[in-house]
Amino acid sequence: MSRVAVRILWFAVFLLGSTLVLWGLLQDQVPQTYDTPAGGPQLVGTSRGHFPYVGTTSTPYFRPVPGGSSPKLRPPKSSRIWPTLHEREDRILTQLNLIPTNPKHKDQTEQKLILLYNGLPDGTLHGSARFRADGCPVDNCFVSNDRDVMDKADAVVFEGGMFDNVHQPRPPGQIWILFLLESPENVADFTSHRDVYNWTATYRLDSTINTPYERFIPYANASDVQLPPPRRNYAKGKTKKVAWFVSNCYSVNKRGAYATELAKYIAVDVYGACGNMTCLRDDRKRCYQMLTDTYKFYLAFENSNCRDYITEKFYWNALYNDIVPVVMGAHPDDYAAVAPPGSYIHVDDFESPRHLAEYLHKLDNNDTLYNEYFRWKGSGEFINTKYWCRLCSLVHEAASDRAPLAMWYGNMGRWWNGPGICVHPRTNDRWATWRNQTSFGDVFAAPNTLNVLHRVIH
Ligand SMILES: *[C@@H]1O[C@H](CO)[C@@H](O)[C@H](O)[C@H]1NC(C)=O
Ligand SMILES: *[C@@H]1O[C@H](CO)[C@@H](O)[C@H](O)[C@H]1NC(C)=O
Ligand SMILES: *[C@@H]1O[C@H](CO)[C@@H](O)[C@H](O)[C@H]1NC(C)=O
Ligand SMILES: *[C@@H]1O[C@H](CO)[C@@H](O)[C@H](O)[C@H]1NC(C)=O
Ligand SMILES: *[C@@H]1O[C@H](CO)[C@@H](O)[C@H](O)[C@H]1NC(C)=O
Repeated sequence: MSRVAVRILWFAVFLLGSTLVLWGLLQDQVPQTYDTPAGGPQLVGTSRGHFPYVGTTSTPYFRPVPGGSSPKLRPPKSSRIWPTLHEREDRILTQLNLIPTNPKHKDQTEQKLILLYNGLPDGTLHGSARFRADGCPVDNCFVSNDRDVMDKADAVVFEGGMFDNVHQPRPPGQIWILFLLESPENVADFTSHRDVYNWTATYRLDSTINTPYERFIPYANASDVQLPPPRRNYAKGKTKKVAWFVSNCYSVNKRGAYATELAKYIAVDVYGACGNMTCLRDDRKRCYQMLTDTYKFYLAFENSNCRDYITEKFYWNALYNDIVPVVMGAHPDDYAAVAPPGSYIHVDDFESPRHLAEYLHKLDNNDTLYNEYFRWKGSGEFINTKYWCRLCSLVHEAASDRAPLAMWYGNMGRWWNGPGICVHPRTNDRWATWRNQTSFGDVFAAPNTLNVLHRVIH
């Protein structure tokens, strides 16, 4: 195909994708049982949009942070590289430091070919340039978006749920990877995709390659018991209470209903299509500065309550702007596992929005208490999780003697969206909550969800 033809094709794909996304958003915006507050001017999009569907975002592949994984960071608790069904652990640092040792693949002399079936996301360099640019410890990999190499590829990455021909034959040893950025509420259902994918690359901690929006790693020297109070007063000069930037008024977890109830007891300024305040999208920096300077709390409410689903709303809108996040989304255990210690307030820790509001008033009236939420500052850093480097190392590692012989998800629908993964409002609830959930954890015990065939060691 000529270059022009390729461009036209890409443009067509982009248009189709954008149309689908817009259509999806319109569907989303139809209020169902919850009435959106009277709308004011349009506004803010602090979210990254739904671009992953059309493969044009670089997030969260990459976010350069100086330092990377270094000795000053607390070493990982486990040396495991591959996921297990029963233990959830952060394997990112271990994977980042992985150098495959198979003698047959010494120096990784055999280049691994990785096909991105749904194209190159924005900012992804073609070929091996990406791996070199990222300074990967193992960089002998080549990424391609040319489906003609499907027969030769060592690994194929499928993004979203746009692939139906899942049972087509594949060369022996070829690894199929499912890459997902959105929560199960917003992407395809994989119930028919049985025995298809070998690996997953998602925000889920138990993915083969965990691709979180951010990953905070404490410094080796940071106390586990009690961090020192911050040196400055983070409450100083803040005159307002709660802010929320939101453009998608309806969401399955009914976060808007929670915010509306909360607003009865404490001032909540809603910016964007669902509220009456405005901060222009094109001046994001100023919007963030306004958060930092004037507000005490930020509603980092995700659009769905699903295990591990913690996005930029938490990290970039709140933590990066010195404002205390009030979170709704992932299970409280999931925030506890990855968030900087003591950095947030989870709605499920309160009996009701009124109780939460009382607590926020208490913090608002006592700077000492408010500053407790900033003790984590300076106790660690958000690392560059180097997705491409880990992908390359793992594809090499998979060919080594110490890797399992085979690994695949027998029941992807169950792993991705089985019982206990997402919660919805029950008939007598106004919004989704993890409180009183009994099904939680079922998925990790489900048989045949992740199969691992170990090598027989003689
Ligand atoms: C801990 O290590 C970090 C990073 O090296 C350093 O900035 C910080 O000052 C150290 N803190 C203490 C208490 O030694
Ligand atoms: C936004 O709406 C709230 C409640 O309807 C009202 O109290 C407030 O004054 C309004 N703010 C602005 C800036 O119009
Ligand atoms: C603020 O909270 C701290 C810690 O609980 C407490 O010691 C202090 O007396 C409180 N200050 C006020 C003014 O209530
Ligand atoms: C990948 O998954 C397929 C389909 O379940 C399986 O047959 C194959 O052995 C797996 N390959 C590897 C390398 O794990
Ligand atoms: C959770 O369970 C407790 C005790 O069984 C009950 O009082 C409470 O109303 C329940 N909460 C929800 C949100 O269902």
